[in-house]
Amino acid sequence: MIDVRALAESEFRASQDLFRRALLRKPANDEDWARVRGCLEVGRVLGAFDGGELVGTARATSNELAVPGGRVAAGAVTGVGVRADRTRRGVLRELMRVQFDDVRQRGEPVAMLHASEATIYERFGYGVASRHRKVELERARVAFRDDAPRGGQVRVLDRKAADPLLPEIYRRCAVDRAGWIGRDEPWWSGFWQYLGEDVLVAVHTGEDGVDDGFAVYGPNHGERGTALDVHDLKGADATAVAQLWRFLLGVDLVDRVVGHVRPLDEPLEWWVTDRRQCRVTEVEDDLWVRLVDVLAALRARTYGAAEPVVVEVRDAFLPDNEGGYRIGPDGVERSADEPQLRLDVSALAALYLGDQLASTLVAAGRIEVRDPAAVAAADRLFATLETPWCGTGF
Ligand SMILES: CC(C)(COP(=O)(O)OP(=O)(O)OC[C@H]1O[C@@H](n2cnc3c(N)ncnc32)[C@H](O)[C@@H]1OP(=O)(O)O)[C@@H](O)C(=O)NCCC(=O)NCCS
Repeated sequence: MIDVRALAESEFRASQDLFRRALLRKPANDEDWARVRGCLEVGRVLGAFDGGELVGTARATSNELAVPGGRVAAGAVTGVGVRADRTRRGVLRELMRVQFDDVRQRGEPVAMLHASEATIYERFGYGVASRHRKVELERARVAFRDDAPRGGQVRVLDRKAADPLLPEIYRRCAVDRAGWIGRDEPWWSGFWQYLGEDVLVAVHTGEDGVDDGFAVYGPNHGERGTALDVHDLKGADATAVAQLWRFLLGVDLVDRVVGHVRPLDEPLEWWVTDRRQCRVTEVEDDLWVRLVDVLAALRARTYGAAEPVVVEVRDAFLPDNEGGYRIGPDGVERSADEPQLRLDVSALAALYLGDQLASTLVAAGRIEVRDPAAVAAADRLFATLETPWCGTGF
Protein backbone atom coordinates (compact mmCIF):
# COMPACT_ATOMS: atom_id res chain seq x y z
CA MET A 1 0.00 0.00 0.00
CA ILE A 2 1.58 3.27 -1.15
CA ASP A 3 0.80 6.37 0.85
CA VAL A 4 1.52 9.75 -0.78
CA ARG A 5 1.62 13.01 1.17
CA ALA A 6 3.22 16.45 1.10
CA LEU A 7 6.56 16.29 2.90
CA ALA A 8 7.59 18.37 5.89
CA GLU A 9 10.55 20.67 5.32
CA SER A 10 12.67 18.38 7.51
CA GLU A 11 12.10 15.62 4.91
CA PHE A 12 13.02 17.67 1.83
CA ARG A 13 16.68 16.77 1.75
CA ALA A 14 16.00 13.03 1.97
CA SER A 15 13.61 13.35 -0.97
CA GLN A 16 16.22 15.25 -2.98
CA ASP A 17 18.80 12.55 -2.25
CA LEU A 18 16.31 9.88 -3.33
CA PHE A 19 15.64 11.77 -6.56
CA ARG A 20 19.36 12.16 -7.32
CA ARG A 21 20.00 8.47 -6.63
CA ALA A 22 17.15 7.59 -9.01
CA LEU A 23 18.93 9.65 -11.69
CA LEU A 24 22.17 7.77 -10.87
CA ARG A 25 23.75 10.86 -9.32
CA LYS A 26 25.45 11.30 -5.98
CA PRO A 27 23.46 12.90 -3.15
CA ALA A 28 23.65 16.69 -3.19
CA ASN A 29 26.55 18.37 -1.41
CA ASP A 30 25.68 21.28 0.88
CA GLU A 31 26.15 23.87 -1.87
CA ASP A 32 23.90 22.01 -4.35
CA TRP A 33 21.38 21.43 -1.63
CA ALA A 34 21.23 25.13 -0.77
CA ARG A 35 20.51 25.87 -4.43
CA VAL A 36 17.76 23.26 -4.70
CA ARG A 37 16.23 24.18 -1.34
CA GLY A 38 15.58 27.70 -2.63
CA CYS A 39 13.38 26.28 -5.39
CA LEU A 40 11.19 24.06 -3.19
CA GLU A 41 7.67 25.10 -2.23
CA VAL A 42 6.24 23.85 1.03
CA GLY A 43 3.19 21.72 0.25
CA ARG A 44 4.37 20.88 -3.27
CA VAL A 45 7.12 18.36 -2.48
CA LEU A 46 5.44 14.96 -2.38
CA GLY A 47 6.75 11.77 -0.86
CA ALA A 48 5.51 8.22 -1.46
CA PHE A 49 5.81 5.90 1.51
CA ASP A 50 5.73 2.13 1.66
CA GLY A 51 5.54 0.75 5.21
CA GLY A 52 6.67 4.15 6.52
CA GLU A 53 9.74 4.26 4.26
CA LEU A 54 10.23 7.00 1.67
CA VAL A 55 10.37 5.21 -1.70
CA GLY A 56 9.45 7.92 -4.23
CA THR A 57 9.11 11.64 -4.69
CA ALA A 58 7.79 14.26 -7.11
CA ARG A 59 7.51 18.00 -6.73
CA ALA A 60 6.09 21.01 -8.50
CA THR A 61 6.52 24.75 -8.43
CA SER A 62 3.95 27.42 -9.23
CA ASN A 63 4.55 28.98 -12.61
CA GLU A 64 2.75 30.21 -15.69
CA LEU A 65 2.80 29.16 -19.32
CA ALA A 66 2.28 31.35 -22.38
CA VAL A 67 -0.36 29.85 -24.65
CA PRO A 68 -1.56 31.27 -27.98
CA GLY A 69 -3.18 34.60 -27.13
CA GLY A 70 -2.74 34.40 -23.36
CA ARG A 71 -1.20 32.84 -20.26
CA VAL A 72 -2.28 30.03 -18.00
CA ALA A 73 -1.30 29.12 -14.43
CA ALA A 74 0.80 25.97 -14.57
CA GLY A 75 2.39 23.56 -12.12
CA ALA A 76 6.00 22.95 -13.19
CA VAL A 77 6.71 19.33 -12.29
CA THR A 78 10.24 18.15 -11.56
CA GLY A 79 12.27 16.05 -9.09
CA VAL A 80 10.44 12.82 -10.01
CA GLY A 81 12.14 9.65 -8.81
CA VAL A 82 11.37 6.24 -7.37
CA ARG A 83 13.88 4.17 -5.42
CA ALA A 84 15.41 1.60 -7.77
CA ASP A 85 14.28 -1.36 -5.65
CA ARG A 86 10.65 -0.17 -5.76
CA THR A 87 10.12 0.71 -9.43
CA ARG A 88 7.27 -0.72 -11.58
CA ARG A 89 4.95 -1.20 -8.64
CA GLY A 90 2.76 1.81 -9.18
CA VAL A 91 4.63 4.35 -7.01
CA LEU A 92 4.81 6.98 -9.75
CA ARG A 93 1.17 6.35 -10.60
CA GLU A 94 0.14 7.27 -7.03
CA LEU A 95 2.41 10.31 -7.00
CA MET A 96 0.89 11.55 -10.28
CA ARG A 97 -2.64 11.05 -8.98
CA VAL A 98 -2.03 13.10 -5.83
CA GLN A 99 -0.07 15.73 -7.75
CA PHE A 100 -2.86 16.29 -10.29
CA ASP A 101 -5.38 16.68 -7.45
CA ASP A 102 -3.12 19.28 -5.89
CA VAL A 103 -2.56 21.10 -9.20
CA ARG A 104 -6.33 21.32 -9.67
CA GLN A 105 -6.93 22.54 -6.14
CA ARG A 106 -4.46 25.35 -6.78
CA GLY A 107 -6.49 26.41 -9.82
CA GLU A 108 -3.77 25.49 -12.30
CA PRO A 109 -5.39 24.15 -15.49
CA VAL A 110 -2.14 22.59 -16.73
CA ALA A 111 0.92 20.76 -15.45
CA MET A 112 4.17 20.74 -17.41
CA LEU A 113 7.54 19.03 -17.28
CA HIS A 114 10.70 18.06 -19.15
CA ALA A 115 10.96 14.27 -19.35
CA SER A 116 14.07 12.15 -18.78
CA GLU A 117 12.57 9.47 -21.05
CA ALA A 118 9.85 9.80 -23.67
CA THR A 119 8.09 6.61 -22.54
CA ILE A 120 7.07 7.63 -19.02
CA TYR A 121 4.41 10.33 -19.02
CA GLU A 122 1.96 9.77 -21.87
CA ARG A 123 0.05 7.18 -19.83
CA PHE A 124 -0.70 9.96 -17.33
CA GLY A 125 -2.07 12.23 -20.08
CA TYR A 126 1.02 14.31 -20.84
CA GLY A 127 1.93 15.04 -24.46
CA VAL A 128 4.81 16.77 -26.23
CA ALA A 129 3.68 20.38 -26.63
CA SER A 130 6.90 21.90 -28.00
CA ARG A 131 10.22 20.78 -29.43
CA HIS A 132 13.70 22.24 -29.65
CA ARG A 133 16.80 21.68 -31.74
CA LYS A 134 20.56 21.69 -31.36
CA VAL A 135 22.59 23.52 -34.03
CA GLU A 136 26.33 23.39 -34.72
CA LEU A 137 28.25 25.85 -36.89
CA GLU A 138 31.90 25.59 -38.00
CA ARG A 139 33.10 29.07 -37.35
CA ALA A 140 35.63 29.23 -40.23
CA ARG A 141 32.96 28.32 -42.79
CA VAL A 142 30.20 30.62 -41.63
CA ALA A 143 29.64 34.14 -42.87
CA PHE A 144 26.58 36.28 -42.30
CA ARG A 145 24.68 37.51 -45.34
CA ASP A 146 24.44 41.24 -45.91
CA ASP A 147 20.66 41.13 -45.61
CA ALA A 148 20.67 39.45 -42.16
CA PRO A 149 19.32 41.80 -39.47
CA ARG A 150 21.99 44.03 -37.98
CA GLY A 151 21.93 46.75 -35.34
CA GLY A 152 22.73 47.74 -31.78
CA GLN A 153 25.75 46.75 -29.71
CA VAL A 154 26.95 43.63 -27.94
CA ARG A 155 28.98 43.83 -24.71
CA VAL A 156 30.54 40.98 -22.73
CA LEU A 157 29.97 40.71 -19.00
CA ASP A 158 31.07 38.21 -16.43
CA ARG A 159 28.45 36.22 -14.61
CA LYS A 160 28.29 38.45 -11.56
CA ALA A 161 27.79 41.63 -13.54
CA ALA A 162 25.13 40.00 -15.71
CA ASP A 163 23.24 38.41 -12.84
CA PRO A 164 21.10 41.45 -11.91
CA LEU A 165 20.36 42.34 -15.55
CA LEU A 166 19.16 39.09 -17.07
CA PRO A 167 15.80 38.56 -15.33
CA GLU A 168 14.51 41.85 -16.69
CA ILE A 169 15.86 41.21 -20.20
CA TYR A 170 14.34 37.73 -20.13
CA ARG A 171 10.94 39.23 -19.38
CA ARG A 172 11.34 41.47 -22.41
CA CYS A 173 12.10 38.51 -24.69
CA ALA A 174 9.30 36.64 -26.37
CA VAL A 175 6.93 36.60 -23.41
CA ASP A 176 4.05 36.16 -25.84
CA ARG A 177 5.49 33.16 -27.57
CA ALA A 178 3.58 29.99 -26.70
CA GLY A 179 5.76 27.78 -24.52
CA TRP A 180 7.41 30.66 -22.60
CA ILE A 181 7.45 30.12 -18.83
CA GLY A 182 8.43 32.36 -15.94
CA ARG A 183 11.88 32.33 -14.30
CA ASP A 184 11.88 33.44 -10.67
CA GLU A 185 14.85 34.39 -8.51
CA PRO A 186 15.51 30.83 -7.24
CA TRP A 187 15.51 29.66 -10.86
CA TRP A 188 18.21 32.16 -11.80
CA SER A 189 20.43 31.36 -8.82
CA GLY A 190 20.07 27.66 -9.61
CA PHE A 191 20.97 28.32 -13.23
CA TRP A 192 24.19 30.16 -12.35
CA GLN A 193 25.21 27.56 -9.83
CA TYR A 194 24.55 24.75 -12.29
CA LEU A 195 26.69 26.41 -15.00
CA GLY A 196 29.60 27.13 -12.68
CA GLU A 197 32.26 29.81 -13.05
CA ASP A 198 33.36 29.21 -16.61
CA VAL A 199 30.59 31.06 -18.42
CA LEU A 200 30.32 34.51 -19.92
CA VAL A 201 27.36 36.59 -20.89
CA ALA A 202 26.90 38.73 -23.98
CA VAL A 203 24.21 41.39 -23.72
CA HIS A 204 22.69 43.11 -26.73
CA THR A 205 21.55 46.72 -26.53
CA GLY A 206 19.15 47.90 -29.22
CA GLU A 207 19.38 51.17 -31.16
CA ASP A 208 17.02 52.67 -28.56
CA GLY A 209 19.58 52.03 -25.79
CA VAL A 210 17.52 49.29 -24.12
CA ASP A 211 19.08 45.89 -23.33
CA ASP A 212 16.97 43.46 -25.34
CA GLY A 213 18.86 40.18 -25.60
CA PHE A 214 21.53 38.01 -24.01
CA ALA A 215 23.59 34.89 -24.62
CA VAL A 216 25.10 32.75 -21.86
CA TYR A 217 27.98 30.74 -23.22
CA GLY A 218 31.19 28.98 -22.29
CA PRO A 219 34.16 27.20 -23.90
CA ASN A 220 34.25 23.45 -24.26
CA HIS A 221 37.70 22.02 -25.14
CA GLY A 222 37.32 18.58 -26.72
CA GLU A 223 38.81 16.22 -29.31
CA ARG A 224 37.22 18.20 -32.14
CA GLY A 225 38.79 21.46 -30.98
CA THR A 226 37.25 24.26 -29.01
CA ALA A 227 33.53 24.80 -29.09
CA LEU A 228 31.49 27.59 -27.60
CA ASP A 229 28.47 26.04 -25.93
CA VAL A 230 25.56 28.45 -26.02
CA HIS A 231 23.48 27.52 -22.98
CA ASP A 232 20.86 30.22 -23.31
CA LEU A 233 20.20 32.87 -25.92
CA LYS A 234 17.14 35.07 -25.94
CA GLY A 235 16.28 38.25 -27.82
CA ALA A 236 13.27 40.53 -27.96
CA ASP A 237 13.47 40.62 -31.77
CA ALA A 238 15.31 39.10 -34.72
CA THR A 239 17.96 41.85 -34.71
CA ALA A 240 18.97 41.10 -31.12
CA VAL A 241 19.15 37.35 -31.80
CA ALA A 242 21.06 37.72 -35.09
CA GLN A 243 23.51 40.16 -33.55
CA LEU A 244 24.23 37.81 -30.64
CA TRP A 245 24.88 34.91 -33.05
CA ARG A 246 27.10 37.17 -35.16
CA PHE A 247 29.06 38.03 -32.04
CA LEU A 248 29.43 34.39 -30.92
CA LEU A 249 30.59 33.32 -34.38
CA GLY A 250 33.24 36.04 -34.26
CA VAL A 251 34.92 34.96 -31.01
CA ASP A 252 38.60 34.14 -31.65
CA LEU A 253 40.18 30.70 -31.05
CA VAL A 254 36.82 28.98 -31.40
CA ASP A 255 36.26 26.15 -33.93
CA ARG A 256 32.54 25.57 -33.46
CA VAL A 257 29.57 27.28 -31.92
CA VAL A 258 26.92 24.94 -30.56
CA GLY A 259 23.44 26.25 -29.78
CA HIS A 260 21.57 24.08 -27.30
CA VAL A 261 17.78 23.99 -26.87
CA ARG A 262 17.08 26.38 -29.75
CA PRO A 263 13.64 27.06 -31.26
CA LEU A 264 12.80 25.11 -34.42
CA ASP A 265 11.99 28.27 -36.37
CA GLU A 266 15.11 30.29 -35.54
CA PRO A 267 16.14 31.59 -38.99
CA LEU A 268 19.88 30.90 -38.57
CA GLU A 269 20.20 29.11 -41.90
CA TRP A 270 18.67 32.15 -43.60
CA TRP A 271 21.20 34.51 -42.04
CA VAL A 272 24.36 32.71 -43.26
CA THR A 273 25.80 32.48 -46.78
CA ASP A 274 26.04 28.67 -46.76
CA ARG A 275 22.95 27.23 -45.09
CA ARG A 276 24.46 23.72 -44.93
CA GLN A 277 26.99 25.00 -42.42
CA CYS A 278 24.17 25.38 -39.94
CA ARG A 279 23.90 21.72 -38.98
CA VAL A 280 20.90 20.61 -36.97
CA THR A 281 22.27 17.73 -34.90
CA GLU A 282 19.22 17.04 -32.69
CA VAL A 283 15.50 17.72 -32.60
CA GLU A 284 13.96 16.69 -29.29
CA ASP A 285 10.85 17.04 -27.17
CA ASP A 286 10.98 20.23 -25.13
CA LEU A 287 7.93 20.84 -22.94
CA TRP A 288 5.44 18.12 -22.02
CA VAL A 289 2.04 19.50 -21.07
CA ARG A 290 -0.86 17.85 -19.22
CA LEU A 291 -4.28 19.50 -19.55
CA VAL A 292 -5.38 18.78 -16.00
CA ASP A 293 -8.59 20.79 -16.33
CA VAL A 294 -9.33 20.43 -20.03
CA LEU A 295 -12.10 23.03 -20.22
CA ALA A 296 -10.16 25.72 -18.35
CA ALA A 297 -6.97 24.95 -20.31
CA LEU A 298 -8.74 25.13 -23.68
CA ARG A 299 -10.41 28.39 -22.66
CA ALA A 300 -7.07 29.97 -21.78
CA ARG A 301 -5.96 30.16 -25.42
CA THR A 302 -7.34 31.80 -28.55
CA TYR A 303 -8.18 30.04 -31.82
CA GLY A 304 -7.84 30.80 -35.51
CA ALA A 305 -10.72 31.65 -37.84
CA ALA A 306 -12.63 28.48 -38.74
CA GLU A 307 -15.93 26.72 -38.16
CA PRO A 308 -16.18 25.36 -34.59
CA VAL A 309 -15.35 21.69 -34.16
CA VAL A 310 -16.78 19.23 -31.62
CA VAL A 311 -13.99 17.11 -30.22
CA GLU A 312 -14.42 14.14 -27.91
CA VAL A 313 -11.58 13.88 -25.42
CA ARG A 314 -10.63 10.58 -23.82
CA ASP A 315 -8.84 10.75 -20.50
CA ALA A 316 -8.45 7.44 -18.70
CA PHE A 317 -6.34 8.90 -15.85
CA LEU A 318 -8.59 11.90 -15.07
CA PRO A 319 -11.98 10.67 -16.35
CA ASP A 320 -13.97 13.75 -15.38
CA ASN A 321 -12.29 15.48 -18.33
CA GLU A 322 -13.84 12.97 -20.72
CA GLY A 323 -16.54 14.10 -23.10
CA GLY A 324 -17.27 16.52 -25.92
CA TYR A 325 -15.92 20.06 -26.30
CA ARG A 326 -17.06 22.55 -28.92
CA ILE A 327 -13.96 24.57 -29.84
CA GLY A 328 -14.26 27.69 -31.98
CA PRO A 329 -12.92 31.22 -32.44
CA ASP A 330 -15.61 32.50 -30.05
CA GLY A 331 -14.70 30.18 -27.22
CA VAL A 332 -14.91 26.65 -25.85
CA GLU A 333 -17.93 24.89 -24.30
CA ARG A 334 -18.70 21.39 -23.15
CA SER A 335 -20.89 19.80 -25.82
CA ALA A 336 -23.23 16.82 -26.03
CA ASP A 337 -23.33 17.02 -29.85
CA GLU A 338 -22.09 14.18 -32.03
CA PRO A 339 -18.26 14.46 -31.96
CA GLN A 340 -16.46 15.14 -35.25
CA LEU A 341 -13.01 14.18 -33.95
CA ARG A 342 -11.94 11.90 -31.08
CA LEU A 343 -8.57 12.01 -29.41
CA ASP A 344 -6.73 11.24 -26.19
CA VAL A 345 -5.86 14.12 -23.86
CA SER A 346 -2.13 13.47 -24.56
CA ALA A 347 -2.73 14.14 -28.29
CA LEU A 348 -4.63 17.30 -27.39
CA ALA A 349 -1.45 18.51 -25.66
CA ALA A 350 0.38 18.27 -29.01
CA LEU A 351 -2.20 20.63 -30.55
CA TYR A 352 -2.45 22.91 -27.54
CA LEU A 353 0.48 25.27 -28.19
CA GLY A 354 0.38 24.82 -31.97
CA ASP A 355 3.31 22.41 -32.24
CA GLN A 356 1.37 19.90 -34.36
CA LEU A 357 -1.45 20.17 -36.87
CA ALA A 358 -4.55 18.07 -36.34
CA SER A 359 -4.04 16.60 -39.82
CA THR A 360 -0.58 15.35 -38.80
CA LEU A 361 -2.10 13.59 -35.79
CA VAL A 362 -4.80 12.13 -38.03
CA ALA A 363 -2.07 10.69 -40.26
CA ALA A 364 -0.29 9.44 -37.13
CA GLY A 365 -3.40 7.57 -36.07
CA ARG A 366 -3.77 9.69 -32.93
CA ILE A 367 -7.01 11.43 -33.95
CA GLU A 368 -10.05 9.44 -35.00
CA VAL A 369 -12.06 11.24 -37.67
CA ARG A 370 -15.85 11.07 -37.59
CA ASP A 371 -16.41 14.04 -39.89
CA PRO A 372 -13.62 14.63 -42.46
CA ALA A 373 -14.54 18.32 -42.86
CA ALA A 374 -13.53 18.91 -39.24
CA VAL A 375 -9.84 18.10 -39.87
CA ALA A 376 -9.07 21.23 -41.92
CA ALA A 377 -11.12 23.31 -39.47
CA ALA A 378 -9.16 21.92 -36.51
CA ASP A 379 -5.90 22.70 -38.35
CA ARG A 380 -6.94 26.34 -38.69
CA LEU A 381 -8.27 26.60 -35.15
CA PHE A 382 -5.15 25.30 -33.38
CA ALA A 383 -2.36 26.43 -35.73
CA THR A 384 -0.11 29.29 -34.60
CA LEU A 385 2.19 31.53 -36.64
CA GLU A 386 5.15 31.06 -34.32
CA THR A 387 6.47 27.63 -33.38
CA PRO A 388 6.09 27.08 -29.63
CA TRP A 389 9.30 26.99 -27.62
CA CYS A 390 10.01 26.81 -23.92
CA GLY A 391 13.82 26.88 -23.77
CA THR A 392 13.84 26.95 -19.96
CA GLY A 393 14.91 23.88 -18.02
CA PHE A 394 13.47 23.12 -14.59
C1 LIG B 1 10.42 6.88 -14.12
C2 LIG B 1 10.09 6.39 -12.72
C3 LIG B 1 9.81 7.59 -11.83
C4 LIG B 1 8.83 5.49 -12.80
O1 LIG B 1 8.41 5.13 -11.50
P1 LIG B 1 7.63 3.74 -11.22
O2 LIG B 1 7.17 3.79 -9.81
O3 LIG B 1 8.45 2.61 -11.66
O4 LIG B 1 6.39 3.88 -12.18
P2 LIG B 1 5.02 3.07 -12.02
O5 LIG B 1 5.30 1.72 -11.46
O6 LIG B 1 4.02 3.90 -11.32
O7 LIG B 1 4.67 2.95 -13.53
C5 LIG B 1 3.42 3.22 -14.09
C6 LIG B 1 3.45 2.70 -15.50
O8 LIG B 1 4.48 3.38 -16.23
C7 LIG B 1 5.39 2.41 -16.79
N1 LIG B 1 6.73 3.03 -16.71
C8 LIG B 1 7.26 3.63 -15.65
N2 LIG B 1 8.49 4.07 -15.92
C9 LIG B 1 8.73 3.74 -17.20
C10 LIG B 1 9.85 3.94 -18.06
N3 LIG B 1 10.95 4.55 -17.60
N4 LIG B 1 9.78 3.48 -19.31
C11 LIG B 1 8.66 2.85 -19.74
N5 LIG B 1 7.56 2.65 -18.97
C12 LIG B 1 7.61 3.09 -17.71
C13 LIG B 1 5.25 1.20 -15.93
O9 LIG B 1 5.64 0.05 -16.62
C14 LIG B 1 3.78 1.22 -15.62
O10 LIG B 1 3.06 0.71 -16.71
P3 LIG B 1 1.61 0.04 -16.54
O11 LIG B 1 0.70 1.14 -16.07
O12 LIG B 1 1.30 -0.44 -17.90
O13 LIG B 1 1.79 -1.01 -15.53
C15 LIG B 1 11.24 5.55 -12.09
O14 LIG B 1 11.50 4.49 -12.96
C16 LIG B 1 12.50 6.35 -11.86
O15 LIG B 1 12.70 6.89 -10.79
N6 LIG B 1 13.40 6.41 -12.89
C17 LIG B 1 14.65 7.10 -12.79
C18 LIG B 1 14.52 8.59 -12.56
C19 LIG B 1 13.72 9.25 -13.67
O16 LIG B 1 13.88 8.99 -14.85
N7 LIG B 1 12.82 10.15 -13.24
C20 LIG B 1 11.96 10.91 -14.15
C21 LIG B 1 12.51 12.28 -14.26
S1 LIG B 1 11.60 13.22 -15.47
